[in-house]
Parts: sequence; C-alpha cells; structure tokens
Amino acid sequence: MNSDADKILIDTYGRVHNNLRISVTDRCNLRCTYCMPEEVTFLDRRELLTFEEIARFVEVVAPLGIDKIRLTGGEPLLRRELPRLVRMICAVLGIKDVGLTTNGILLADQAEPLYQAGLRRINVSLDTLDAGRFRQITRRDGLEKVIAGILAAKRAGFDPVKINAVSIRGITEHEVVPLARFAREYGLEMRFIEYMPIGADQWERDKVFFAHEILEILERDICPLVPAAHYDRRAPAMEFQYTDGAGSIGIIASVSRPFCHSCNRVRLTAEGKMRNCLFALDEVDLKPLLRGGALSEEIAKLVRDNVWAKWEGHEINTARFIKPLRTMHAIGG
Ligand code: 5AD
Ligand code: SF4
Repeated sequence: MNSDADKILIDTYGRVHNNLRISVTDRCNLRCTYCMPEEVTFLDRRELLTFEEIARFVEVVAPLGIDKIRLTGGEPLLRRELPRLVRMICAVLGIKDVGLTTNGILLADQAEPLYQAGLRRINVSLDTLDAGRFRQITRRDGLEKVIAGILAAKRAGFDPVKINAVSIRGITEHEVVPLARFAREYGLEMRFIEYMPIGADQWERDKVFFAHEILEILERDICPLVPAAHYDRRAPAMEFQYTDGAGSIGIIASVSRPFCHSCNRVRLTAEGKMRNCLFALDEVDLKPLLRGGALSEEIAKLVRDNVWAKWEGHEINTARFIKPLRTMHAIGG
C-alpha cells in the first residue's frame, strides 16, 4: 500500500495540485478574438467525454487531493443537461467546491437549474458594457443576454458572481470604470485578466493593458483600494477592497506578475486529454482508458506522472515562449 504522500498530485517544484478545470465542450456561441479564430471546426460530439466518463475521472482524482473543480468550455452551457453533470460531480466524496465559467449568453434560463443542482460559484466573462465593442470583441451580438444572465445568477443565489474581463490595450482603458461601477452596483466581483497569447490572434506584449494601469484608473476614478483582508499572495488574483466598503476587485496579472510558482491547476479537455498547464505543449490522452474500462490505479498513475512532469511555468515574457497549438476555446481557460 502506498503512503498518502505518494498519492497526492505534486510536481518536482513542490507544487501540490488540488484544482481541476474540466472543459465540457469546445463549442461556443461567441467568437472572441483573443480566444479563437473566426472559422473553427469543432469536435465531433462522439469525441466528447460522456458525463459518466467525466465523473469517473473525478472519482479517480478526488482521492489524489483534487477538491476544487471548475467547469469550462468553449461555452459550457451549450452542453445539454449540464445540471446533471453538476449533480454527479458534487456527489463525489472529497469534492468541496464546484464552479463554472460561462459567457453568460444562455445563463438567464440556466442559472436556477444549475443552482438547484448544487453549483454555487459562477464566473461570467464580460469585457465591455458597450454593444459595439461587444460585437467587435466577440464577433457576435448578445450583450443584453449576458447582462440578463448575470442578474439571473445573482437572483438565483450564486455567491460570488464574478465578472471576468480580459484586459486589452485600446479597449480596457475605456471599460475599467463602467465595468467597476456596474459590479459595485449589483454586488458582483469584478476581475480583470491580463490578455495572454493563447488565442488565434497576433499577441504582443504591448497589447496587454497591465494590472498597474487598471489600478491607477480605479483609484483615480472610483475609489482608493487596499489589499483585501483575505488576500492570498499565492492565488492567481491580486485582490483589493474599496476603502468605502462597496465591494472588491481582483486582477489576474498573468503576464506582468506570473503566478506559475504557486500553480495548483490541472486541466481536462472536452475530448479527454489531460494538460498540466494552460500553455502545455504535451498532453496525455485519457479517453482510451476512461472508455476502455481501465483500472483506477492505471488512470491515477498517468495523472500523477503528468503532474510530476510539469514545467516551472509559462515563458510568455521570454523569447523561448512557444504558443500551444490549441487555442483557448479548446482548452478551457
Ligand atoms: N487571455 C486572457 N484571458 C482569456 N480568456 C480567454 N482567452 C483569453 C486570453 N487570450 C478568458 C475568458 C474567460 C476565461 C475562460 O478565459 O475571458 O473568462
Ligand atoms: Fe467563447 Fe469564451 Fe472563447 Fe469567448 S472566450 S469565444 S465566450 S469560449
């Protein structure tokens, strides 16, 4: 019998992994420029892991220390019967926290059933409150639906409801204040994420609207900020509270302040490939094992080996950086 220390998901840098992001589909009803190309070929539905296969994977990794799960896409709400999967995952022993990241387009109708299924945390991606800019970024219409979805999530009882905005120069400097005001008004947690080279578009460092620039605008035009009481320096988001007590904001400085040294995440793609990093160049195909009736120990071994092989971190800020072939919609954020 192995000792518990042999079972946890630890890598050669000592990082312990408890956080699993599961993509449930690569399809999306938007086409955000920073995420995917305009024309995409999506996976054949038969390629997708079934809910039973996903739940089996969760049952295998929960004893290895995975206790936090986030469902992503593509757009996860495009996957039929998603509340059923939420129920199955929440029922796995050891899973403490199940969250979802959505673009919000279909959320108005689904917020309530998802909450009933046991989901408690929701992140909605929204980069702008301007309909024209929304179309420019997402190549589709739908701002009103997203806002209706956000308000429905709030009404359904989700806590927190977080809003994720990708921070891009030329766009975000105009959006910081309206988004922050909107979040304060409706009791939402606003989070800005520095734009990363993981889409199909031409990324350059100069196109990132940086964390310190966002903070400057917030402090000047909204309210001074102090580090949040629960600020965890190892967490990806730098968290701040407004000194007037009206809410908090988070900034994920993935480019200007990488958090790879404290990364605790692994990923499962919609077709069953495990990735130990958003920017990983290699992945492990687990579908044949999940579909072929492999023993839990065999799957667990591959997962442990994949985590052990994890590199120190992405090299976005160096000339060595190599962009993965998969774009964001096919990884899951
Ligand atoms: N850089 C930063 N964040 C991104 N997202 C998608 N593409 C990028 C990118 N290139 C975000 C989305 C969503 C989450 C899944 O990832 O806005 O909130
Ligand atoms: Fe769809 Fe999200 Fe990618 Fe936008 S960022 S295209 S909403 S998966």
